[in-house]
Amino acid sequence: MEKTFLMVKPDGVQRNLVGEIVARFEKKGFQLAGAKLMNIPTELAEEHYGEHKERPFFGELVDFITSGPVFAMVWQGENVIATARNMMGATNPKDSAPGSIRGEFGLTVGKNVIHGSDSPESAEREIGLFFKPEELVQYNKLMNEWIY
Ligand code: PPS
Repeated sequence: MEKTFLMVKPDGVQRNLVGEIVARFEKKGFQLAGAKLMNIPTELAEEHYGEHKERPFFGELVDFITSGPVFAMVWQGENVIATARNMMGATNPKDSAPGSIRGEFGLTVGKNVIHGSDSPESAEREIGLFFKPEELVQYNKLMNEWIY
């Protein structure tokens, strides 16, 4: 099943938006495969955002993403990569559709609450950077005496 890497950025964690964001993906019907609250070491931040190394905001981006805890997640489901990007909204909150996560909660292009992989290649790379294989859980929904 397709997987994507999503991360509530430090502004989202500070603003208590983790539950709201997790709930949106749960209610949509995607399945959570892994999650952790963590501080990102500088080297990991630089590798994660490596493609933006030459851009003028790279230092600011690394400083921000390492400024406080993030909530890193792996979600799975059909077309989860593209669907999650739609649910997140455009990178710059001034252009994000109302109802999208950034449209509702984002403030600036840097402090835009959430990161999500933009392609199957980046999803595989980012999941590998943030999660060990044993941290991802495969499970079926149980139908038994304690669910009714
Ligand atoms: S895109 O869609 O990846 O091409 O978007 P892009 O505009 O290139 O932005 C890539 C990530 O950099 C962040 N960003 C910034 N951070 C701080 N300051 C400035 N000025 C800035 N501009 C862009 C933006 O939030 C994107 O982060 P992620 O985590 O990839 O969404």
